Amino acid sequence: MDYREKILKLKKEKNALILAHFYQIPEIQELADYVGDSLGLAQKAAEADVDMIVFAGVHFMAETAKMLNPETLVVLPDMEAGCSLADSCPYDDFLNFKNSHPDHLVISYINTTAAIKTLTDIVCTSGNAVQIVESLPKDQKIIFAPDKNLGGYINRITGRNMLLWNGTCEVHDILSTEAILKMKEDNSDASIIAHPECNAPVLELADYIGSTTGMIKFTQIDSHKKYIVATESGIIHQMQKLSPEKEFLIVPSDSTCSCNDCPYMKLNTLEKLYLALKNETPSINMDKEIMELANKPILRMLDISKKLKII
Ligand code: 13P
Ligand code: SF4
Repeated sequence: MDYREKILKLKKEKNALILAHFYQIPEIQELADYVGDSLGLAQKAAEADVDMIVFAGVHFMAETAKMLNPETLVVLPDMEAGCSLADSCPYDDFLNFKNSHPDHLVISYINTTAAIKTLTDIVCTSGNAVQIVESLPKDQKIIFAPDKNLGGYINRITGRNMLLWNGTCEVHDILSTEAILKMKEDNSDASIIAHPECNAPVLELADYIGSTTGMIKFTQIDSHKKYIVATESGIIHQMQKLSPEKEFLIVPSDSTCSCNDCPYMKLNTLEKLYLALKNETPSINMDKEIMELANKPILRMLDISKKLKII
């Protein structure tokens, strides 16, 4: 039996749900019960009625699933699957920053540790960040963490002046305008689409900016036949599957390298997923107090998203 068959058999026996992010390898996306962006994955985890969630993504996503569904066993195939953005916001430094701006409300991107979420008023994802900020009064002072690229993008879109934490994603921040301009020169008929974690000069070149779900949906409804895609390479699998007649060109990190795989997302393999399901480990275990505090701003986000019908 190959891993795929073994996983599907075990999944049934154990009443498990496999959730996968769009940056996972195609083999994992193909056997998952649900493939989505951070918001969709959190929404699915919250409503899951199963004995086990196998989270094919990174640590902050599995941690969020555990907080939203504390009675369910949540396993992450590789515990080393972290996130450079979450790592760019250490607790003590952020606590000092927050304390030096006591009149500010804290909005944190979901790509943070549970510890940072305990210092947060509302969590957001790239799929709802603009709407969450706009749901607040215009004169509300806001700290946005940890992604300065996403925060800068929201400031430009909403005309706000949020204080930005100086964090970035190591995968998106190095995508270069030079590489995109060269691709556009060779493919003048292509539309440029980008994830808001890309740096400002890259976003300036984009015809569409959005979450992974937003980018995929855009390629389905837009009339172009070719896309220059500025995000992690795993997304191409769903784009190509949903629009087989279209062409998708992934933006390389610079002119000499096409190393735009997220090293954390790509730690998950079919073998590790099978072992996690079989051995029910490594599992997400959290301090009860942290879990309760960190869950509050996530629930606020889900509540606002529900009211605004963002899925
Ligand atoms: P999405 O929520 O848009 O899928 O983004 C998650 C992420 O980690 C992007 O790097
Ligand atoms: Fe984190 Fe960047 Fe990987 Fe997304 S792509 S999980 S932000 S390191």
